[in-house]
Amino acid sequence: MKAVTWHGRRDVRVEDVPDPTIQEPTDAIVRITSSGLCGSDLHLYETLGPFMGKGDVLGHEPLGIVEEVGSATGDLKVGDRVVMPFQICCGSCWMCDRGLYTQCETTQVRDQGSGAALFGFSKLYGEVPGAQAEFLRVPQAQFMPIKVPEGPVDERFLFLSDVLPTAWQSVVYADVPEGGTLLVLGLGPIGEMATRIALHQGIRVISVDRAPERLARAKARGAEVIDLDAVDDVGEEVRSLTQGRGADSVIDAVGMEAHGSPVAEIGQRVFNALPKRLSAAIMDKVGLDRMSAIYTAIDAVRRGGTVSLIGVYGGETDPMPMMTMFDKQLQFRMGQANVKRWVDDIMPLLVDDADPLGTEQFATHQVPLSEAPEAYENFQKKLDGTVKVVFKP
Ligand SMILES: NC(=O)c1ccc[n+]([C@@H]2O[C@H](COP(=O)([O-])OP(=O)(O)OC[C@H]3O[C@@H](n4cnc5c(N)ncnc54)[C@H](O)[C@@H]3O)[C@@H](O)[C@H]2O)c1
Ligand SMILES: [Zn+2]
Ligand SMILES: [Zn+2]
Repeated sequence: MKAVTWHGRRDVRVEDVPDPTIQEPTDAIVRITSSGLCGSDLHLYETLGPFMGKGDVLGHEPLGIVEEVGSATGDLKVGDRVVMPFQICCGSCWMCDRGLYTQCETTQVRDQGSGAALFGFSKLYGEVPGAQAEFLRVPQAQFMPIKVPEGPVDERFLFLSDVLPTAWQSVVYADVPEGGTLLVLGLGPIGEMATRIALHQGIRVISVDRAPERLARAKARGAEVIDLDAVDDVGEEVRSLTQGRGADSVIDAVGMEAHGSPVAEIGQRVFNALPKRLSAAIMDKVGLDRMSAIYTAIDAVRRGGTVSLIGVYGGETDPMPMMTMFDKQLQFRMGQANVKRWVDDIMPLLVDDADPLGTEQFATHQVPLSEAPEAYENFQKKLDGTVKVVFKP
C-alpha cells in the first residue's frame, strides 16, 4: 500500500510499504478514506527527529471503513464507518476506567516512560505505524473505533480523532469563570477549534496568531484577535482589553514550534546537526523547547487564573518561570487529549444538520497521499492558505 513515511528533518515521502495484517485477536484493519495532518506531525517533521526511524509511517487522525476484524473485536463489523482516537487505549484498565485514555496502562510505553501508545508518533510513543496510509492496523479494536453514521461527508466526523476532543478538553481545562475572558494562543487547527467551541458556549474569546488567514478565520467566527506581529507585548495588549488584569483563562495551543525566540531557534539548528544518538540524549535530559507561547500565557493570564496547556512540549527540565507562576497563584492543566472522554459531549453537535462548529468547511486542503511532501511544507510554512490538510488515500 501507499503510505507517508518519515525520512529526516523536513523529509517525508510517499512510499510502498507492506499492507498491515491482523496480529492480535483484538486487531482490525481499516481502509482509510480521510486522514488529517496535525500540528503534532510538525514536531516529528522538525524537532523530534531524534526519536524517529527512517520509514516510520506518519499520521494519527484516521477515518475509514472496517476491512477485516480479528476474532475478539466485539461487535465491530466489516463495512462499519469508524473514526479512531489518536491514542491507543484498551477501555478497561484502571486509567481508562477514569477517562484518562492517554494514560492507558495496557498500552503505556514503559521503556520510554511515556503514556499510552499513539499512532504514527515516534519511539517515544511506541512506534506504531500511522494513518496517513491506505490501510491502518487498529489495535484494541474491541474498544478503539468510534462508529459514525453514514450520510455526511468524512470531514463532519474526522476531527473526532483529535482536533475536536483536543480543543474541547482545552476549553474544559481552561475552566473559564462565568462572564470571563479566554485567551487562545495559536490559531492552528487546535486553537481555531478551541476558539469555535468557546464562542459556541458564549465565552468571550481573544485569539492570537500572526498568520493573516488564520486571524481572519477566527475573527469571522466572532473572536477578538491580536496579530502577534502588530503588538510589542501580547500581555500588555490583553491587559488593556481586560481592565488591566489579564485573561481569566489562557489556552496555549502553540507548543514547541512557537516562533518568537530566535535564540532558541539557533540552538535548535545546532542541536539538529548533532549525531542522532547524542541529540536524543540531550533532548530527553535537557529539553530544547521554544517556550515563548507558554511564557506569554503566564504573563497574560490574570492573577489566580488558569492556564490550559494543549500545545505539546518535549524535554523534561524546561526552564519554567516558577517564581512568577507561584506568585500569581496559577492553575495549570495539561496533557494529551483523552479523546473518548469527550465524544458523547461533542457528538450532538456533529449530528446536528446545522453543523454549528463548521466541521464540513474546516479543512482548507483535501489532497491525495502523493502530495504529502508539499502539504507538509505548506502547513509548516503556512503557505497557500494552508490551515488544515486532509489526505484522501
Ligand atoms: N494535547 C493534545 O492532545 C494535542 C493534540 C493535537 C495537537 N496538539 C498540539 O497542539 C499544538 C497546535 O497544533 P495545531 O494542529 O493547531 O498546529 P499549528 O502548528 O498549525 O498551530 C500552531 C499555531 O501557533 C501559531 N504560533 C506560533 N508561535 C506563536 C506564539 N508565540 N504566539 C501565538 N501563536 C503562535 C502559529 O502561527 C500556528 O498558527 C501543537 O503543539 C500540537 O502538537 C496537542
Ligand atoms: Zn494530532
Ligand atoms: Zn486502558
